[in-house]
Amino acid sequence: MLIVSCSHGKHLGKMIAKKAKASHTDLVVDKFPDDELRVQFKANLKGKNVVLVQSFYSNVSDCIIECILAAETAAELGAKKIILAAPYFPYLRQDKRFRSGEAVSQEIIAELFDLYFDSIYIIDPHLHRKHSLKDIFHSKTVKLTANLLTSEYIKKHIKNPIIMGPDEESFNWAKSVADSIGAESRILKKIRYSSYHVEVKLNKYIELKDRNVVIVDDIISTGHTIVETAKLLRKMGAGKIYCACVHGIFAGGGLKKLKAAKVEVISANTVPNEKAKIDVSGLIAKSLR
Ligand code: R5P
Repeated sequence: MLIVSCSHGKHLGKMIAKKAKASHTDLVVDKFPDDELRVQFKANLKGKNVVLVQSFYSNVSDCIIECILAAETAAELGAKKIILAAPYFPYLRQDKRFRSGEAVSQEIIAELFDLYFDSIYIIDPHLHRKHSLKDIFHSKTVKLTANLLTSEYIKKHIKNPIIMGPDEESFNWAKSVADSIGAESRILKKIRYSSYHVEVKLNKYIELKDRNVVIVDDIISTGHTIVETAKLLRKMGAGKIYCACVHGIFAGGGLKKLKAAKVEVISANTVPNEKAKIDVSGLIAKSLR
């Protein structure tokens, strides 16, 4: 097996290779003067199971094109199997036509990857209306979760926490994390008006006075969901407010907003960021072995 770090997989590729006892190479990626991508393998791929490690954050479109160019090139150079290890896979939230005339991007992007990959490993895919990766992709898929790692982190560092899921979509994460540490949990109600405007409401009163509250969610994008949740929890008397996420994207200064809202953020390292304290390299390596 050969692990290949793509441009947005470098923070994990080498660690995955070491833990999977596999060889490793970096994909050479640069740009032509007109902004087109150039990718190049510097290793021999013939007869090998080639694992492309790519996380799809920032310049997402370039990340996708890079992966497609690399996968097809790997096939042409004689790779036996072409595997994608995606710590963060994009476009999964766009799982229906929310507004008329809008693309259902989840399906279209999945179809594209199906064409080039034998199997696709994704950490904590955002599954909402479609409950399984098998309902989205035709290629073999493996769904991994950082829930246990997140639970272990919370257990070790936060005393007597109560777990909050900011919306029904966070149920898979918040409930599972709460159950594995034996903590109380509650799922809140979120109304999304736009990408930058959400409202978070309480379903039923819960006593939070001076409690350590951990908001658990899969993705933090702009940070608005967490900021609004923290405001609500603070009104209810919560003590220290933490937020544990898998994919810390922090688009458009999201982390700054969370700092201003006095939320202590803990993130997995599917996307590299300054709050990435939970390492998923072992999770991926184990599943590839
Ligand atoms: C959606 O349901 C996800 O689980 C997250 O809650 C959402 O992506 C967070 O987005 P933002 O940080 O922009 O509020």
